[in-house]
Amino acid sequence: MKGIEPEMLATWDHRFLWHPFTQMAEWLSEPPLIIERGEGVYLYDAHGNRYLDGVASLWCNVHGHRHPVLDAALHEQANRVAHSTMLGLSNVPAIVLAKELVQRTPASLTRVFYSDSGATAVEIALKIAAQYWQLVGEPQRTEFVSLTEAYHGDTIGAMSVGYSEMFHRFHKPLLFPCHKLDPPHVFRWYRGLSAEAALDAALSEARSFFRQHGAHLAAMIVEPLMQGAAGMWKHDVAYLRGLRDLTREHGVLLICDEVATGFGRTGQLFAVEHAGLEPDMMCLGKGISGGYLPLAATLVREEIFAAFLGPYDAFRAFFHGHTYTGNPLACAVGIASLEVFERERVLDNVRVRARQLEERLEKEFAPLAHVGDVRQWGLMAGIELVANRSSRAPYPAGERVGHKVILAARRRGVVLRPLGNVIVLMPPLCITEEQLDELCQVTWESIREVTENKTSTRS
Ligand SMILES: Cc1ncc(COP(=O)(O)O)c(C=O)c1O
Repeated sequence: MKGIEPEMLATWDHRFLWHPFTQMAEWLSEPPLIIERGEGVYLYDAHGNRYLDGVASLWCNVHGHRHPVLDAALHEQANRVAHSTMLGLSNVPAIVLAKELVQRTPASLTRVFYSDSGATAVEIALKIAAQYWQLVGEPQRTEFVSLTEAYHGDTIGAMSVGYSEMFHRFHKPLLFPCHKLDPPHVFRWYRGLSAEAALDAALSEARSFFRQHGAHLAAMIVEPLMQGAAGMWKHDVAYLRGLRDLTREHGVLLICDEVATGFGRTGQLFAVEHAGLEPDMMCLGKGISGGYLPLAATLVREEIFAAFLGPYDAFRAFFHGHTYTGNPLACAVGIASLEVFERERVLDNVRVRARQLEERLEKEFAPLAHVGDVRQWGLMAGIELVANRSSRAPYPAGERVGHKVILAARRRGVVLRPLGNVIVLMPPLCITEEQLDELCQVTWESIREVTENKTSTRS
């Protein structure tokens, strides 16, 4: 691909591509930022300009771009075989990674079913849950419950449990019904309540819901501790533990969707570890391959796996699979990524950097005139911009304040991607103290420029 002029690439992008989650009319009116290469936490565009990757290439990059250990694992596997199927065959990296994942995830999880995106990992969990209850003689358990504003991906089942009016209203007729519980999100949902009172209210709503519907529920699905795409809605470990207690009490499977929170993001390898929680199923994606290649996994308890066993002609098997399931290149990089976690003590860095981020968010961002709220777990943060701080009135969507902030950041050499008017900071976990300072400084200046019309730097 060498030698193609950036201007030609921009023309072809506008002529041939349709970008995800993008209003293309707007996209076509702006020059595209075309990434040509990466190195550590930085991305370089086709003109050679450098940008700090402030959202880890959509929350998935872990150890930086072009990490030598991950690159070597990829090359080494490419010299053996790039792909062979998991339907009727197995492959070396898929086996080894499965063992490593089972060793590192909570003890309740013993089996790994691979796929290739977060949405498919969720879809698989939902289908396993639905089939499981029929196999074990409780066919009335067909319903699902999830949290308000949950996001679990864009396939039909994932949209059903993660319904968002804004994103999915055109597809509503295709979706299956799903119950919703309000999480203890104080800023928008439980306005006026303290965090403790909101937690009590949310748990009491959950208790009465489970009393009424528990017998018909197949599973509850939850993004543990941080609902990412909702706008970084954080909840306390006590809420997660409360949901675990209720699902257990009512015999309902608990699916933890760690697609965004997994692989070190919150300061533990998996967010459920903060709550000492053992889910019945776990969905993994994004960081599973260090952010290199499309790979996902659904982990389940042994009892769930065992329910699918039987003679061939009983047809109890899980009839689900994708062509690239367990892709050897992706799994080889996934194994290397886990090695790097230990070798480079990545979680130690996340914890130190998370404290640095927390300090800056509290001292510098929270007091800004148009910052309504800041929310953080580890290296996962949302800064909610509001038109009016005291009434918490949001900016009108058409003003595109979040988008303007990220364009201002881009001019200063940082790539961000907002969730509406929530500015997301989610850098690669290998970020250094100086690089995190750069990310915070640029974001702070960009927010002030757009919301206060101020271009001065921090005093
Ligand atoms: C919690 C969660 N689940 C599922 C998904 C979907 O993952 P993918 O985009 O790989 O399908 C996402 C993506 O952001 C997510 O944050």
